Amino acid sequence: MSRPFPPPAFRIGDLVVDPPILQAPMAGFTNAAFRQMVREYGGAGLIATEMVNARGFVWMDENEAEHPERLWGVAEEPRPLAVQIWDNDPETMAKVGRRLVEEYQVSVVDINFGCPVRQVTEKAHSGSYLLRTPGRMFEIISQLVKACAPTPVTAKIRLGCSPDSVNCNEVARVVEEAGAAALTVHGRTAKDMFRGHADWDRISEIKAHLRNIPLIGNGDLDSPEKVVHAFKTYDVDGVMIARACLGRPWLFSQAAAALRGQPIPPEPSLPEQRQCMMHHYDLVKERFGEEKGTILMRKYACCYAQGKYGARHFRTHVANVSSADEFYRIVEEYFPMKTKEEIRAEREAEQAAETRAAETLNAELS
Ligand SMILES: Cc1cc2nc3c(=O)[nH]c(=O)nc-3n(C[C@H](O)[C@H](O)[C@H](O)COP(=O)(O)O)c2cc1C
Repeated sequence: MSRPFPPPAFRIGDLVVDPPILQAPMAGFTNAAFRQMVREYGGAGLIATEMVNARGFVWMDENEAEHPERLWGVAEEPRPLAVQIWDNDPETMAKVGRRLVEEYQVSVVDINFGCPVRQVTEKAHSGSYLLRTPGRMFEIISQLVKACAPTPVTAKIRLGCSPDSVNCNEVARVVEEAGAAALTVHGRTAKDMFRGHADWDRISEIKAHLRNIPLIGNGDLDSPEKVVHAFKTYDVDGVMIARACLGRPWLFSQAAAALRGQPIPPEPSLPEQRQCMMHHYDLVKERFGEEKGTILMRKYACCYAQGKYGARHFRTHVANVSSADEFYRIVEEYFPMKTKEEIRAEREAEQAAETRAAETLNAELS
């Protein structure tokens, strides 16, 4: 296999995805505030919402309730934007798809066939549960495609339900035959949840089972180097990043530069990262108000601190904040502001100063 590098932009229907790096849908995280952060740094060719329950949307509509909170921002924000929906009923999905296209003018309607959470699988027979019934997937996709045309419909899957029922090659063929415009694959099975590693060889194998639509690989990409490696090693048209971008919305811009062969922008300094988090907090607070916004921000704040020296301490303290004043105080006091190297250098300098002082004293006494 020899693929061009840098990887070219690819198309989802008429939409050009450039650069070919996508921001993954993440329930509870990829709301409009987070998406704005990603957009401000740039580098993501397509941005996705959290998954939205189609049945809930229809119920709200019929009962003249507001549309789902998860559609906050969708009508107004810049394009391209993919909205992800989930359910197991083809008609309900088609109805919601049409509303998203007509009323919200979304760029892409994505279907969740990968969620492994019990509430979605066992209770609602949706998400990754549907991987065991490709015929049902066909029905859902084809009805949705018809309802949304010409807006493209895409599917996001896992390798299968469990390691002994991997059926992604067959599912990929069904997805394309039903009329989907792209396939994203998270390289684990539903049973794996997030254990082990994403199997990129398996993802890559799927390409031979698709005739025309692009394949997007997903799983464990957490650095520009890994994005470059994925494109150079595996047969994918695009890659999708999820967890690693939660506290690093600038990761896409770094990965995009790496793909272009340009110098990778350095990781922002810790004060810059803190400033970025505060900007994110302002966006969340503006939408949800002080108390709800602060409570919601706790988990993002933990993501921003993750992997840094002192993160555990910060997490413990930020876990209980519910007002802006408290949040500012905890950030001021505990957000990691020094790297391990800086702390080590400071300690060494202190020790050296103490040694010098002791030597001076000794010299004076002798
Ligand atoms: C908190 C969280 C929420 C997620 N929510 C969704 C979702 O709503 N829809 C979806 O298709 N995948 C969802 N995922 C899965 C991710 O999109 C992605 O497939 C998975 O995390 C693997 O990619 P990563 O290794 O880059 O994190 C979620 C993952 C996490 C960690």
